Amino acid sequence: MALISDLRVLVAECPFYTPVMPGSGKPMSVRMTNFGQLGWVTDKAGYRYQPCHPETGRPWPAIPAQLQELWEKLARYPHPPEACLVNHYTGKARMGLHQDKDEIDFDAPVLSVSLGDTAVFRIGGSSRKDPTRSFKLQSGDVLVMGGPARMNFHGVDRFIPATSTLLSGGGRLNLTLRRVNLPVN
Ligand code: SIN
Ligand code: MN
Repeated sequence: MALISDLRVLVAECPFYTPVMPGSGKPMSVRMTNFGQLGWVTDKAGYRYQPCHPETGRPWPAIPAQLQELWEKLARYPHPPEACLVNHYTGKARMGLHQDKDEIDFDAPVLSVSLGDTAVFRIGGSSRKDPTRSFKLQSGDVLVMGGPARMNFHGVDRFIPATSTLLSGGGRLNLTLRRVNLPVN
């Protein structure tokens, strides 16, 4: 898969790092990096989008063309994504239930691509109290959260080891494309 070889080159340029939770500074179990003009980061000071890698200080590399094309085909939104968060799940990594709400433009959907081992993905409604259900996201699956689902709570309970041979070290990659700012036109 051509995307994987592109990702390898890009990740060498902007390595995965371990983000920490706001306030507590507790490390997250997922490692992260980003592509695009803006990248989503979390540290003791809070959640935000910023143009540079927090450890290398270098600008994030551009979003690979294949991912931009997926957005053009599936997002049904007339402006390009500005951010691509890359999550790397290994070992016991998981992601708690949350909403994506650090963006200004909530009209644009969130488009995510899963690669590598299968994830048990959980999704609820727009209130934390809403019931949730889970389903599997396999390598190559693309999920678009748009319209009324844009603000739905979601997370990853776990991934199922050895369900894919795509990534040489095993584990799971999730690439999330997002629009951050309101388009100017
Ligand atoms: C996320 O919500 O940032 C990641 C979701 C996933 O890994 O599928
Ligand atoms: Mn999310």
